[in-house]
Amino acid sequence: MAQWTGRAARRLCASFLQVWGLPGCPPRPNSRTMSTSEKDFENAQSQVKHLEDPGNEVKLKLYALHKQPTEGPCNVPKPGVFDVIHRAKWDARDALGSLPKETARRSYVHLASSLSASSDPSRLAGPGAANRAGYETLVVTSEGGISQIMFNRPAKKNAMNLQMYNEIMLALDAASKDDTVITVLTGNGDYFSSGNDLTNATEMPPGGLEEKANNNSNLLRKFVSCFIDFPKPLVALVNGPALGIAVTILGLCDVAYASDKATFHTPFTSLGLSPEGCSSYTFPKIMGLAKAAEVLVFGKTLTAGEAYAAGLVAEVFPDSTFQKEVWTRLQAYAKLPKNAMRTSKQLLRSLEKERLHAVNAEECELMISRVQSDECKNAFANFLSRKAKL
Ligand code: COA
Repeated sequence: MAQWTGRAARRLCASFLQVWGLPGCPPRPNSRTMSTSEKDFENAQSQVKHLEDPGNEVKLKLYALHKQPTEGPCNVPKPGVFDVIHRAKWDARDALGSLPKETARRSYVHLASSLSASSDPSRLAGPGAANRAGYETLVVTSEGGISQIMFNRPAKKNAMNLQMYNEIMLALDAASKDDTVITVLTGNGDYFSSGNDLTNATEMPPGGLEEKANNNSNLLRKFVSCFIDFPKPLVALVNGPALGIAVTILGLCDVAYASDKATFHTPFTSLGLSPEGCSSYTFPKIMGLAKAAEVLVFGKTLTAGEAYAAGLVAEVFPDSTFQKEVWTRLQAYAKLPKNAMRTSKQLLRSLEKERLHAVNAEECELMISRVQSDECKNAFANFLSRKAKL
């Protein structure tokens, strides 16, 4: 991306933002009636006006995050494929699905401030600068002592592509170092996450399947390690169905709350794969060997109620009140003494850490041979040719 500097560049950038319909100088609301968040939103809009060109992808994200709180979810007809700009804008809005207005507003503020920070060269030099850049597959916000990492590929049921794995690691690293008290993982749209993006398997490196299997295994090991080592309370809000890795990491979260629309499915055997995310160790501990075998070996889908009975989730809420109830609770928890919470979390996990890292290594090693098996190749080919849904 070309770096634009100086006043002329800012003018150019501002007019570019206008062409894209991005907020420049909104009418000033009466300051006495503005809530803090409206003020933040207004400030963020003026930060955006002064940004150097952040690139089209980020501009589209800003555009969509600005429209969501001001106009609500995208409900205009989809423009034709040749109407390139309007189609790109429509896609960006549509990708936000039913993201709540307040979340969109917070995300806009957060993205604007991280872009502002990263256009300041003195801040870019510091460690962790990359974490302040905008995320493409996540919406990351932080407010009231809680940082939220929201999977944001709703059109793909929040399937985790390679970029999302990397961004989740970055976001967890940033959350582990910031001054928030609790970290929350959730999904945008109707799914929590459909797990590993099965199209990850389609890009083949020069060394073929063996190299691919090794690369994926290394990535998975690093990814799962971030959860094992995460130092603060980590809460999963399972807003809808969860599959594969999105289920197994729940065993590494401190608490999971679920909507009654959530389901839990680990179709490892149908895919010719084996359990990951330390589930071969955590699930038998959490739910007993027989239940864990049903879930991990036979791929039985658990309803939210069954996941609660098995101890995988702490509580299930009606979908209609899920967000309100869990956030009320989390906001209260975030006011508890921060260091005591952090120390207690670490104490609960300390005896397990070494064991979990060993299990992670073993699972990832086994994954290398499973990925290269005929059973796995056939299952992935079936998914990609849409012969079967799991
Ligand atoms: N990997 C790649 N793409 C995925 C995906 C995944 N894990 N989950 C969903 N998608 C994509 C679909 O291919 C589809 O893409 P398209 O619109 O370009 O065709 C889109 O997301 C919507 O999914 P769709 O299958 O149309 O929705 P659905 O409600 O009928 O079914 C699922 C949803 C999740 C049940 C189904 O997509 C599925 O079985 N996905 C595979 C899940 C999986 O095996 N995960 C790995 C576990 S180890």
